[in-house]
Amino acid sequence: MDETRKPAERAMSKEEICTHLGDEYDRHLGAIVPPIFQNTLFTRKTTDHGYSYTRAANPTIELAEKKIAALEGAEEARCFSSGMAAITAALMTVMEKDCHIVCPRNVYPPTKAFLDDYMAKFGVDTTFVSGDSADEFERALRPNTKAIYLETPLSNVFALQDLRAVSALARSRGIVTIADNSWATPMYQNPIAHGVDLVVHSASKYLGGHSDIIAGVMVGSRERLEPVTHRERGLFGASMDPHQAWLLIRGLRTLPVRMRQHQESALRIAAFLEAHPLVERVLYPGLPSHPQYELGRSQMSGYSGLLGFVPKGSREAIAGLMKALRLFEEGPSWGGFESLVNSPGLWLDEEASRRSGIPQGLLRVSIGLEHADALIEDLDAALHGMKRG
Ligand SMILES: Cc1ncc(COP(=O)(O)O)c(C=O)c1O
Repeated sequence: MDETRKPAERAMSKEEICTHLGDEYDRHLGAIVPPIFQNTLFTRKTTDHGYSYTRAANPTIELAEKKIAALEGAEEARCFSSGMAAITAALMTVMEKDCHIVCPRNVYPPTKAFLDDYMAKFGVDTTFVSGDSADEFERALRPNTKAIYLETPLSNVFALQDLRAVSALARSRGIVTIADNSWATPMYQNPIAHGVDLVVHSASKYLGGHSDIIAGVMVGSRERLEPVTHRERGLFGASMDPHQAWLLIRGLRTLPVRMRQHQESALRIAAFLEAHPLVERVLYPGLPSHPQYELGRSQMSGYSGLLGFVPKGSREAIAGLMKALRLFEEGPSWGGFESLVNSPGLWLDEEASRRSGIPQGLLRVSIGLEHADALIEDLDAALHGMKRG
């Protein structure tokens, strides 16, 4: 076999990992797209290939895992049926009865609900912190703390946690760190390189990128992930379907180019909104005015397309602005080709806003792959059209 056909044996760029890692043309009749193994079981009479049942392992799912592990600079990855399945499995592998977890309070709300409402019934206690400093995490630690859970940037308030400082603290106390890396994606942030033990993704966002799959991934060392295959994934059964994996691989092929475009458009739109007379505040780690801009630059190499802004206007006027947008559909997800708007802070009263840290009137936009000029024109028209209340 020609040496240039063995890319896995030399350092590959992230672009090459996305497009070609695991192609194996020689195994698949030269098919430019590796075929999908859409089967539940693997028979063994003729060959001993090591596969048995798709809930445990499947070549299509393994290809997605191989690419994502390589993108994150990790030994292994395991795919799950959703981001929440990956998150709960990661937490379940490190939690013990009556243990303690530390987590930022503005983490993705179902993650918070899992720890706060669901795991509480097994005696797990969680301390929620702002996440702004490693000292705050340190003050929250207890002798029975098993994990520090991170999500940086937080996908509703866009605040960061210091990956290096928090991982070093955790490691010195024998505590496991888990980081949700869905916002930055492995293109722009590799938490494992900063000392994090386990990385989780909602692959329903940028990794899939086409708003047509719900999917999740857990990434980490072989030692941590091998038991997950048969325990947290196998026993709970939240495996990925091969077709889902095939669509995820399809999405990954264009991840670098999509992320470049999301970043370029979002940086322009964030700057436009920040300078707009009818906008009070913009929350985006890519803006030099972001309070943790320097921390962001030290642990991320780029920015994705999800940002928040607070228009100047009454709740009703802001609700009207959302409806007036022509190119932004209203919806809670993000990371796809399409631009979206939703309103995490619109109906919060002062007390709820103070408690949650979510600014009153906050709108969240996911900048899609439409032309940035058209998105800016749309936002400008909707802002000027706001009825002052
Ligand atoms: C930051 C973050 N993490 C995890 C999830 C959960 O992912 P999934 O919807 O794939 O279960 C989401 C979903 O919106 C999210 O925004």
